[in-house]
Parts: sequence; C-alpha cells; structure tokens
Amino acid sequence: MDRLLVTGGSPLSGTVRIQGAKNSALKLMAASLLADGRTVIENVPRIVDCLTMVEVLEHLGASVAWEDGRMIVDTGGVDGHETPYELVRRMRASIVVLGPLLAREGRARVAMPGGCNIGSRKIDLHLRGLEHMGASFEHDHGYLEVTAGDLRGAVISLDYPSVGATENLMMAAVGARGTTVIENAAREPEIQDLAGFLVRMGARIEGAGTPTVEIQGVDRFEPVRHVVIPDRVEAGTWAVAVCATGGDVLLAGARTDHMDLPLSKLAETGAEVTVEGEGIRVRMPERALAVDLVTLPYPGFPTDLQPQMMALLASARGTSIVTENVFEARFMFVDELNRMGADIRTEGHHAVIRGVDRLSSAPVRALDLRAGAAMVIAALTADGVTEVSDMYHVHRGYEGFEEKLASLGARVSAGPARSPAVLG
Ligand code: EPZ
Repeated sequence: MDRLLVTGGSPLSGTVRIQGAKNSALKLMAASLLADGRTVIENVPRIVDCLTMVEVLEHLGASVAWEDGRMIVDTGGVDGHETPYELVRRMRASIVVLGPLLAREGRARVAMPGGCNIGSRKIDLHLRGLEHMGASFEHDHGYLEVTAGDLRGAVISLDYPSVGATENLMMAAVGARGTTVIENAAREPEIQDLAGFLVRMGARIEGAGTPTVEIQGVDRFEPVRHVVIPDRVEAGTWAVAVCATGGDVLLAGARTDHMDLPLSKLAETGAEVTVEGEGIRVRMPERALAVDLVTLPYPGFPTDLQPQMMALLASARGTSIVTENVFEARFMFVDELNRMGADIRTEGHHAVIRGVDRLSSAPVRALDLRAGAAMVIAALTADGVTEVSDMYHVHRGYEGFEEKLASLGARVSAGPARSPAVLG
C-alpha cells in the first residue's frame, strides 16, 4: 500500500505536460492485434494500466517494446486467444481485446470482468452487439468462450452509448463481412482516435464521433504508426486542482476541443481559461463559486471529472448540486471527503454540496483512480498535512503524478512504499 503526504495551502503554478490519453492508448494497443507486423504507438502514457495491457498482449503471443512513450507492438507471434482472469481482474478494460480477437482469430476466451468501486460495469451491450454479428458465447467458470466463425455486418442499436461497447463492436466490425451500422454510438474523442487508427490500418469507417457509425468490413490490415491524443481527463484533473488552490498553470498539449464543458464549468466557478500556444492556461483569481453539474456521455460533462469537481466544490462559496448519470456508485468517495470536514449529502444520483470555508486534514483513502485524484485535490486545499493511502489506484492512470504535483509547487512527500510498477 502506498501513501502520499500532502500539505495544504500552496497554489499550483507553472507548466505541466499532459500525457497521452489512457482511455485511447489502451484501445489502440488492443486494435494493433488486427494487423500482422510492427505497429508503433507514440505518446503512450507510462501508467500501470498500460503495463497491464502489455501483459495482455504478451499473453496472446505479441511482443512489445516500449521506451520514452513510444511503444512497438509486434503481432507476428500472436497465437493465443485467451485473456486470463488475473489480468482482467486488474484491469477490466482488457475486455476490449474481444473485438479484435474475433476479427483476427474468429474466437476468444476472455475472463468476465467483475464489478469495480464505481459500479457494476456490465458488458451486456458488448455481447448483444457481437451476437448480432454472428458470435456465440458459452459461460465457462467465469470465462466467456466466444466463437464467431466469420463475423457478418449487422445494424446494432445500443441501449446506451457505451464507450467500451462502441469500441469492441467497431474493432469486430472492421473485419466482418459486409456493412455494420452502430446506432446510439459513443462519441468520445477516444472513439474518434481509435477510428482514425483503424482507418490508417485499412479499415473503412464513417461517422466516428457521431451517434451513427458505419463500417464496411475489409480483409486485411496494415501495421501503422500513430500518436495518441492528449488525455483530456488528466488535463481536466490538473485544471480543477489549479482552481481549488487558486493557482495559475499552463496545461501544455491539452486540447480545448476535447474539453468544452469542463472548461466552461470551471469558468463558471470563476476561473480564467485561455488558449496559450500549444496549451490551455488556467488561472483562479479567487475562491471558487458553487456550480451545478450533470454528468453525461460525451459531449456532456465527463463522469471521470466528477469526483475532482466535488473536491473543488466542497470548499466553494455556496451550495452545488451534482448529478451522476453514468455510474451508479460513483459517490462512494464522498464519505472520505466528509472525513475532511466537507458537508455533502448524497441521495441516489444526486449530491448536495454545501461549501465550507476550508477542509481539514485527515487520513483518507483513494477508492479508485479518479476519486484518488479528488482526495489529493481536497488535501491541497485543506489545512495541515493529509495522508492519502492506496495511491496505487492513482498510479493506474496518472503518469508521474507526484512528480508533476511537486513541479507545480505542491508540498508533497511520497509514503514509504509505492507500487513497483510505477517505478518500472
Ligand atoms: C470508459 O469505461 C472509460 N474507461 C471510463 O473511464 C469512463 O468513465 C467511461 O468510459 C464513460 O466515459 C476506459 O475507457 C478504459 P461505458 P466503459 O461502457 O467503457 C453501462 C477512468 O477513470 N454499461 O460507457 O466501461 C455501465 O455499467 C474510467 O478512466 C452497460 O450497462 O464505460 C456504466 O453504467 C472509469 N452495459 C455506463 O454504461 C454495457 O455493456 C457507462 O459505461 C456497457 C456499459
């Protein structure tokens, strides 16, 4: 278990380089399975989840070289089709190898992902869509045995614009016979990045980033070189931390076109947000004003920034109402915030946050990746020294988290033990 000690009261200032997007890089790595040869993916963030996806690819027989953000995936040796529970348990996003494996091998054996700290995380939409394309499933002691002799195109209407389901179905459909139309598809920038990657490989995709994606199946794919888009959630996390501490920071490499709502929400709290060179400058001249917030699929406000915003609003001027529409259990961390003197009441999907003058330090835990970042943001505003434990959750998705904090002037000191993978 690793801990972070944070002394509150220092405004963040300076420049922070935004990493490649975790939620794109993981899918691009899976998509590389479609082509035989060496695919080069640049700007892959050095985070634990990407290390786990390397293990998933190597378990399938691929070989992966990775240095300075450049990853080379050689799929020449891919001969497997199984993703074991040990890996899926660590990272449920491993399930996105299902689509490419079916397109490449016509079969897959993937451990069913369990739930996680923010919700049940079902995959019924993934499976129903693949079934429409001719796949059949057998449950076998916690594993899914999937066979799809040759996938055929289908019209698939998603009950909910699921990011993972859209990605898995796209990666299966590109190799299916005929045309696939995904209706009510997710529209996130990471979906568009994946579609761009697949088209470069030889796929034929129209409409990525809109609710209707049309895919013509093709027979073969070429390995490619691709640069991962910047991580809008990491950038948003730092932007919220700047607002919480009354700081002034340049988010180098961040893209405003991926962050419209988060940036306009922060401006509503009183932040000054300007495009500066290749980045976004966020400055907070005074204590935040309370705002209401509703999380929705993209382009709505991202659920992945909800916990961070709650940490900011906990000591804003006034009362805020936050509605979480994406994950049913994403308020679990509120109890940790209330341990620091926040005044937050939750009722189902709604949280009422009465801003307090200042949070107070207390030992707290990171419950998941984004809640962990939220606890650190809260600690940056609190009086005294806060200890945040279970920081391994944060290391799953934030590259050099403590180093970036310190470089922006935060007073932090890492605890005695840290997840070895981070130091890898
Ligand atoms: C992706 O998860 C992201 N993860 C999540 O980021 C993000 O919060 C989420 O999209 C929403 O934007 C990765 O990309 C690796 P969904 P995913 O399928 O694909 C329900 C982070 O912190 N659902 O859009 O799992 C599901 O239960 C992580 O980086 C079904 O009911 O999200 C949830 O309530 C957290 N059936 C909602 O849809 C399904 O078959 C959204 O899930 C699939 C999903």
